[in-house]
Amino acid sequence: MTPGGRFGELLYELGEVDSTQTVARELADTRAPEGTVVAAEHQRAGRGRGGRSWLDRPGENLLLSVILRPAIQAADVPQLTLVAAVAVAEAVEEVVGLRPAIKWPNDLVLDERKFAGVLTEAASDGRAVSRVIVGIGINVNQREFPIELAARATSLALARGAPVERRVLRDVLLSRLERWYGLYVDHGFKPVHPEWCRRAVTVGRPVVAGDVQGTAVALDADGALLVRDAAGRTHRIVAGEVRDASR
Ligand code: BTN
Repeated sequence: MTPGGRFGELLYELGEVDSTQTVARELADTRAPEGTVVAAEHQRAGRGRGGRSWLDRPGENLLLSVILRPAIQAADVPQLTLVAAVAVAEAVEEVVGLRPAIKWPNDLVLDERKFAGVLTEAASDGRAVSRVIVGIGINVNQREFPIELAARATSLALARGAPVERRVLRDVLLSRLERWYGLYVDHGFKPVHPEWCRRAVTVGRPVVAGDVQGTAVALDADGALLVRDAAGRTHRIVAGEVRDASR
């Protein structure tokens, strides 16, 4: 049993893969149990949200995917992204002593620079979900970034000014994720909502979400972002990209 308890009890520690999401999906399709974790030292084709790439330098970061089998509807899957973001923030605070902020829905930032993200991919029959793969990428000890990311990206080592023990962070992260996921499964999004809000920086800021331009005014009870436009209309944003228009 790992310190992560049930999450990570079955842990595949791999070297180089295309994407831990793909490996986890294949395992899930062969009935791997909930809480199975696939971690890798390097991804050749790491995936981010919105079809973007997730880049890493081999052996420096945390790249992992967790298989979940929640009894939820497909429409609720985005809530798991918020659950995982809270778990990442909490783990970083505990292990590194820094207090990350969350940008809706899945960006974890320190001093406005992104150091981690969550990618949630589900299979469903259109309504009920059969499995969800939650992928988490954390820039842990990476100190150099491609030029196009350099102004917006950071790592825990850069923010802290010292390297971070990746395995310790991984194990604490898995135990936090297990706890928040357990609360979510038992009680729904309600207990996660205040914790996400406490750590969020999006609410109160001007944002652009697709065609909607306005101010993020709140997180709805189900995890949707409420954005009020200049005409005073409130829009519910449930998925997609939200750009911070204040920057
Ligand atoms: C994002 O912020 O766009 C989400 C990034 C998610 C990256 C992680 S790394 C582990 C897992 N495998 C992937 O290919 N992507 C996720």
